[in-house]
Amino acid sequence: MSLLIKNAKIFSKNNFYVKNVFCENGKIKKITDTTEGIKAEKEIDAENKFLLPGGIDSHVHFREPGMEKKADWKSESSAAVAGGITTVIDMPNTIPSTTTVTALQEKREIAEKSSLVNFGFHFGAAEGKLEEMKKAENIASIKIFMGSSTGNLLIEEENVLEEIFIIGKEKNLICILHAEDEKIIKENTKKAKKENWNDVKFHNKTRSTEAEVQAIKKAIALQKKIGNKIHFLHVSSRKGLQEILEAKNEKISCEVCPHHLFLNETDLEKLENFGKMNPPLRTKEDNEFLMRKLITGEINFVATDHAPHLRKEKEKEYFDAPSGVTGVETVFSLLLNEVAEKRIKLETVVKVLAENPAKVYGIKNKGKIEEGFDADFVLVDLKKEFTVKNEEMHSKCKWTPFNGIKLKGVIEKTIIAGEIVFDKGKIKQEFKGKEIEF
Ligand code: DOR
Ligand code: ZN
Repeated sequence: MSLLIKNAKIFSKNNFYVKNVFCENGKIKKITDTTEGIKAEKEIDAENKFLLPGGIDSHVHFREPGMEKKADWKSESSAAVAGGITTVIDMPNTIPSTTTVTALQEKREIAEKSSLVNFGFHFGAAEGKLEEMKKAENIASIKIFMGSSTGNLLIEEENVLEEIFIIGKEKNLICILHAEDEKIIKENTKKAKKENWNDVKFHNKTRSTEAEVQAIKKAIALQKKIGNKIHFLHVSSRKGLQEILEAKNEKISCEVCPHHLFLNETDLEKLENFGKMNPPLRTKEDNEFLMRKLITGEINFVATDHAPHLRKEKEKEYFDAPSGVTGVETVFSLLLNEVAEKRIKLETVVKVLAENPAKVYGIKNKGKIEEGFDADFVLVDLKKEFTVKNEEMHSKCKWTPFNGIKLKGVIEKTIIAGEIVFDKGKIKQEFKGKEIEF
């Protein structure tokens, strides 16, 4: 199968050029100034459009196996392609949790059968199962929940955390951290129950910024001792990020989620529990600080923490409603809209949605438009506007915290391994993504 994308504005080797991109057998074969002498089975004229590397969302919860009522690989990978994401890395808090080699294999087989996008897996750290971690192959990371969230994965004891960091170092595997301090959360939750803080507007108080800061401090102190690689997931607060930035070096990285960039406490009146996630929405000041540090390159990348829950679960009262929001289908356009508004550069979007996640996790042959790389792209129209609508979402749960907002920057086509998998709203449902290599 060969594909020629003509006259596309591409970002390659730190600059934008109008080029022709010839792909064959899933790879970028040639990037040329002329199309002379090139014959392809399929051609796309991309005049006036930007061809960017396909998005890599390294933080998704696709729920299968075990929670297929909420979501599955087919539905959520459809949402991903519709949103310009061509590769995802799935989190281990499924049922069973991905904490054994057998469970990893089971998830692999499901994704191979059902995923439209390329996929990889984070392996969960669980007490008593550290040997499994040592045996797991081709995984992105070891995921550690320092504070409890959806599922039952939690590492509270410092000596266990240390053992895991040591395994990470020995395997040259990055440890990725949900950094919220369980003790602080527990104490605050007790108070919340006693004083009946039964409203999502208290979420930021219960799972406080302090809980994030303390967990980050603890992890950094331990990293200094062990010298392993760590990555902070979904940093939500200015104070938390400041702790990371003070300590940051090539072994410490971090990500931010779209909801922590674009939403804050003031949106909860409208969102109710559809704005409940861990860590919580903070303040406008936090949004602005995170965005500033994304622009300067101090935050490595954006990942969505795509965590679907059913509408009826979110409609329960605050104490009973699960935490998590969808994100995989909206993240690219949310950032493109920032480009249209001239708040960030398009090259920054390319870095934080493709190049940098590939770099941090060591994903082979992805994240850049260069000869020899995989032919995963998104073709975007930066001039076109659209309104985000719950009913148009491909996620099984059919809601987004960004419902109703207008964005400039439309995903026109998503191309994976040189095949057009999403084209102006139409999805090639029979397409199959492949497991990525680390
Ligand atoms: O809000 C969240 N939802 N945070 C997590 O850490 C887990 C996630 C989920 O899986 O629902
Ligand atoms: Zn998550």
